[in-house]
Amino acid sequence: MPHSLYVFDAYGTLFDVHSAVARHARELGPQAARLSEVWRSKQLEYTWVRTLAGAYRDFGALTADALDYAGALCGGLSPQLRARLLDAYGALDAFPEVAATLDALKARGCRTAILSNGTPAMLAAAVRAAGLEGRLDAVLSVDSLRLYKTAPQAYALVGNHFATSPHEVTFLSSNRWDIAGAQAFGFRTIWVNRSGLPDEYGELAPAAVVTSLERLIALDG
Ligand code: LAC
Repeated sequence: MPHSLYVFDAYGTLFDVHSAVARHARELGPQAARLSEVWRSKQLEYTWVRTLAGAYRDFGALTADALDYAGALCGGLSPQLRARLLDAYGALDAFPEVAATLDALKARGCRTAILSNGTPAMLAAAVRAAGLEGRLDAVLSVDSLRLYKTAPQAYALVGNHFATSPHEVTFLSSNRWDIAGAQAFGFRTIWVNRSGLPDEYGELAPAAVVTSLERLIALDG
């Protein structure tokens, strides 16, 4: 078995971050798609700025801050809708192929884990809501470090937990910036490019690109 430890990013990779807004799209109206995009991009920006500035604030708080910004930009959100969107973010849909992919890896004797910016409480709730409990050997959060990806210390959590060296780890993310960070750290990386985005971070290229997690099973079969 050349690759036996598979580590997944959570938000955007296993869990569909746009499913929160999708559930309330009718109430949000024509601004829904923009709100979801701004919510996600601000949430990520806040992680990088706070890590570089040494001013950590946890991912749940940054998720709420980013929603407040997106809401203000898109014409305002009622407190009720804000609360419903944050509740929905706590129980996002998993992409349809996630459970079967984790099961297929387990059936091959591989170990599986999440490495995420989410807090332990957020990740536990997301895993439970998506029915993924028992399908993961570990759910690792950067929260104890008070640093976000792409800090190398974040990726080092995997080796600390599993006692492996970076080249033994296959890391999957739909976020190209996360793939760049993981590749720089020394993981074997696979970019999950579901929406056909153009490539970037040229010299930090993934070992492979797949259009969905189903393709992973064929790739590493
Ligand atoms: C995560 C975000 C970055 O799960 O998607 O770490």
